[in-house]
Amino acid sequence: YPSNVQVEDNSGLGRANCRAKGGAPGFKVAILGAAGGIGQPLAMLMKMNPLVSALHLYDVVNAPGVTADISHMDTGAVVRGFLGQPQLDSALTGMDLIIIPAGVPRKPGMTRDDLFNINAGIVRTLCEGIVKNCPRAIVNLISNPVNSTVPIAAEVFKKAGTYDPKRLLGVTMLDVVRANTFVAEVLGLDPREVDVPVVGGHSGVTILPLLSQVKPPSSFTQQEIEYLTNRIQNGGTEVVEAKAGTGSATLSMAYAAVKFADACLRGLRGDAGVVECAYVDSEVTELPFFATKVRLGRNGAEEIYQLGPLNEYERVGLEKAKKELAGSIQKGISFIRK
Ligand code: NAI
Repeated sequence: YPSNVQVEDNSGLGRANCRAKGGAPGFKVAILGAAGGIGQPLAMLMKMNPLVSALHLYDVVNAPGVTADISHMDTGAVVRGFLGQPQLDSALTGMDLIIIPAGVPRKPGMTRDDLFNINAGIVRTLCEGIVKNCPRAIVNLISNPVNSTVPIAAEVFKKAGTYDPKRLLGVTMLDVVRANTFVAEVLGLDPREVDVPVVGGHSGVTILPLLSQVKPPSSFTQQEIEYLTNRIQNGGTEVVEAKAGTGSATLSMAYAAVKFADACLRGLRGDAGVVECAYVDSEVTELPFFATKVRLGRNGAEEIYQLGPLNEYERVGLEKAKKELAGSIQKGISFIRK
């Protein structure tokens, strides 16, 4: 695949060669970092999503292999692969939604912040590509540290004059997915019936589950609250340690990313009442970015919900979360402004 790693049937024999170009219903989605631990299962699950008509898989390594493999799935989305920086522009052109899991993951003993030096530059480069090729696309940012990479992306877009705060979303869905699972375990419920709002950010104490607002309404002992809060905040580290140096959460993350991307696509389609937690440009606290529930619509995060009533334990957690978040946000902003 010398120039463009397009691995659809290029024989000219396909009778509906223009299927994607001909406007098959659905959205055009690009995954940047598609050959990675998250990227591969994410690509597979997006290929199964009926709302997707075109799926662009971009990476700096192994994009052709992943693309060839995924493209054989007999689902509707047309898959194309793009390898390396020279193909970034083509990967991004015309896309409605960009999902970014590019960058290095944690190893045992590392915090998400330790990833900053490498991932900040990767996110900047990819966002510069978005500015040039699809400035109106919705962006789902997964690369860590999310608390800083979202401010980095915002600064790149502001610099270019294309920033629309509603269209930039840091993906904190995995914290919600974990919270639903762990809370369901304690309550003896099916996790699909449980909804736990998780606010703040995506790292350690900035991950703030609001157990007082769990649906269905439930009460917890202080011991349960402390166990659950601690497990939700350290769920990522649990996986990093179990994987013992081979990476961080990839499969549950791909699941969470697809759950979130699907919500974004349903919003784009105009569905009513699509509400998920995300880390966004926000006025809910004094910080410029904060994760809360948001309503997703045709323009991205169209409504940002307030925190709602917090109990004393959550108010103390909120203060801790804000203190750490403030530093991470500033670090991201300074990286671009310096
Ligand atoms: P990985 O190392 O398996 O995959 C990353 C992929 O990004 C690789 O295929 C690599 O070639 C690619 N890449 C590197 N530089 C690139 C560039 N300039 N352009 C395009 N692609 C590039 O890592 P994994 O496990 O997939 O994790 C990816 C990121 O997601 C990490 O930063 C990790 O910390 C983060 N993450 C975020 C979570 C969240 O909840 N938001 C949860 C789990 C991980």
